[in-house]
Amino acid sequence: MPSAKQNLHQLARRVGRQPTVRRVVQPAVGRFYAHRNKRRSATEVWADGATWESAHWDQQWLRDAHERGLLDPAQPLEDTFVVEAVDRLPADREPVTLLDVGAGPLTPLGKVHPRRALEITACDALADDYDAILADAGVTPPVRTVAAHGEQLAETFGEDTFDLVHCGNALDHHYDPIAALEGMLRVVKPGGAVLLNHYVNEGVFQNYLGMHQWNIEQRDGHTVIWNPSEVHDLEVLLEGRAAVTTSFRDGGDDRGRLETVVTKAA
Ligand SMILES: C[S@@+](CC[C@H](N)C(=O)[O-])C[C@H]1O[C@@H](n2cnc3c(N)ncnc32)[C@H](O)[C@@H]1O
Repeated sequence: MPSAKQNLHQLARRVGRQPTVRRVVQPAVGRFYAHRNKRRSATEVWADGATWESAHWDQQWLRDAHERGLLDPAQPLEDTFVVEAVDRLPADREPVTLLDVGAGPLTPLGKVHPRRALEITACDALADDYDAILADAGVTPPVRTVAAHGEQLAETFGEDTFDLVHCGNALDHHYDPIAALEGMLRVVKPGGAVLLNHYVNEGVFQNYLGMHQWNIEQRDGHTVIWNPSEVHDLEVLLEGRAAVTTSFRDGGDDRGRLETVVTKAA
């Protein structure tokens, strides 16, 4: 059963999708949040945003998930960013193991690669809430999301465990995205890769609502994670430990995505 706060957040989310509200009200709300967040710790903002986040996964979302095939264990993996990363791995990595961080209740990744055996593990900080939502709806997920904070991946999964780590639309939600990235690097095997797939500057776009605290963009050819208080250059941060390459993918809407491959030194 959703709490009163979750019901309120679900209503606010529905109202917030109206174009006029999005255009007129949300920028003002965003300025308020950006200002307020400066006086609060990232963990405080994050904890406050958790009910906002879980309000996203409502009945309508579940119906859409069903239509998108997210409940199908035979759903083909069509995301070329991930398909190609699997293809680049040496043939002796079989099955290819992949950890999806911040996966949500049902990882959106297709489960079946066109050529290689693939084993997906999904984790999320809100996994216990998601289990309750799925149980309420009588849904058994093809890959059950397990509870783990991105910031504590090595403690949960151990060092050098996965061939690939994927994080889509989620690093900008973390309270400490740099600790999470370091964690992803620790759990991926040497020679393996961390795949980050994010809209450009999602925190700004979402007006810093809910868990959206961070932005990812390219500056002078470098990949940068930033918010109004901090800037982190990934190439500088990971120099000597991992190679960083980022490509821009035009999504056909007015927003582009950044596909970043962080390859751990062998
Ligand atoms: C926008 S959803 C993305 C879900 C999924 N990756 C997708 O693309 O549909 C962001 C997810 O990140 C999760 N998240 C936020 N902070 C996290 C953290 N510190 N550790 C792990 N997951 C986190 C949220 O709970 C949420 O499920």
